[in-house]
Amino acid sequence: MKKYSIKYILSNKNIYKKLINKIIIIQGWIKYYRNNIFIDINDGTSIKNLQVLIKDKKFLSIKKKINIGIPIKVIGILVYQKKNKNKIELIPNKIKIYKGYDLNYINNSILQNKYHKLSKLREEIYLRFRTNIFSTIIRIRSILFFEIHKFFYKNKYIYINTPIINKNNAEGAGEVFNITSLDSNNKNLKDLFNNEGKLTVSGQLELESSMYGLGKVYTFGPVFRAENSNTYKHLSEFWMLESEIMYYKLKDIINLAIKLIKYLLKKILIKCKDELFYLDQYHKKHNKFKDLNNRLKKIINNKFIKISYTNIIKLLKKEDNDIIKWGEDIGSIHEKIIFNNIFKKSLPIIIYNFPNKIKPFYMKRNKYNNTTKSIDILLPGVGEIIGGSERETSYKKLLKRIKKNKMNVKNINWYLNLRKLGKIYHSGFGLGVDRLIQFITGINNIRDVVPFPIYPGHI
Ligand code: 4AD
Ligand code: MG
Repeated sequence: MKKYSIKYILSNKNIYKKLINKIIIIQGWIKYYRNNIFIDINDGTSIKNLQVLIKDKKFLSIKKKINIGIPIKVIGILVYQKKNKNKIELIPNKIKIYKGYDLNYINNSILQNKYHKLSKLREEIYLRFRTNIFSTIIRIRSILFFEIHKFFYKNKYIYINTPIINKNNAEGAGEVFNITSLDSNNKNLKDLFNNEGKLTVSGQLELESSMYGLGKVYTFGPVFRAENSNTYKHLSEFWMLESEIMYYKLKDIINLAIKLIKYLLKKILIKCKDELFYLDQYHKKHNKFKDLNNRLKKIINNKFIKISYTNIIKLLKKEDNDIIKWGEDIGSIHEKIIFNNIFKKSLPIIIYNFPNKIKPFYMKRNKYNNTTKSIDILLPGVGEIIGGSERETSYKKLLKRIKKNKMNVKNINWYLNLRKLGKIYHSGFGLGVDRLIQFITGINNIRDVVPFPIYPGHI
């Protein structure tokens, strides 16, 4: 007698044929109870439930206890019901209901058996893993994370664990969380980092240092931004994937980013069929027809649109002359116009050569028109998911910009010293992984694709 996961049992014909007529154990919780004889059990491994048929008289007393959400163990024989649409069923020998549950609590939580909006699920964030919609999103997220590592592993990149605590504000903007070891009640002690510790906004600068020794590197971890953005696509803590490659030009980094995105979407199509199917049903129920499979396929099978910053500004101005000026950053309002009015094909858009003044100090400048050798990649619905560039190789130019930005030269001197190793040109990018999950799942709010979202006003 062995225990199996529901995902394994229902994964394919070969597996359930092997298990048919065998006695197996499953453990999970009651998802539905139908017609007084069918219990659907879920164990979290799959969106699918296993049906248990409780016709036998010996289960009369168990039947009285059955309630949605309570924990259960079933030992029984797996059978194949030709007549029944559900096909695979468990005929129990023994059923155990685990004690300790509080029905009053379950029935008054978000787990009561009715539809709740995603924003409502957020009110009981620790329970929402039990819901179909959220567990589906999180399973996709888990597979995506694994595939990200696999992509870089297969392509012989070295994985670098860049620090979460540092003292350089990599993006040069003022959006950093400061950390201190001091208890606010005890001011006599000395701070462990002399008030210099910050939560990292990006692992890029440390990643560049590792690149000088290892060639092709990536880092993947949480980063932190103290910007007060209460939007559907900003978090205070989010996961960024960053890569740096020695002797790569901008065109190489563009190709790498395209290859990565296409690889990841392909893997999700193959590995998350049940999840995508469920999400399509979910969106349809709420009158949003997303057809996620086709949306992903379209991106895999088509070229990304490429356009310079200057040209996209011209096109935006054609739509509405006052909406943006050359030199201003492209924001969410502009992204919407780009996808709804300018390029209506729902394909990714690569915008290159952004103006110097809206990009960080480390980006290499073009020789002409005050622009950087940079890219942003936008996806329909979520907007910017990638930012990247060629990196400045000149010690002097970097120093000048760091001083101009009034950054602390002492704290970032180590980064400058790397340029003393010679003019090794290199490029890199950062991908906002949570936003990619928004795109894949068609879920509107970033707070609903992250296990424990942290955003302004909410820890
Ligand atoms: O464009 P960003 O700020 O670029 C960097 O940090 C570079 N150091 C990356 C690099 O070149 N190594 O951030 C990269 C991506 C954005 O394109 C966006 O997708 C995502 O991170 N992002 C956020 N995602 C969620 N919440 C936020 N507050 C985000 N800010 C940026
Ligand atoms: Mg950016």
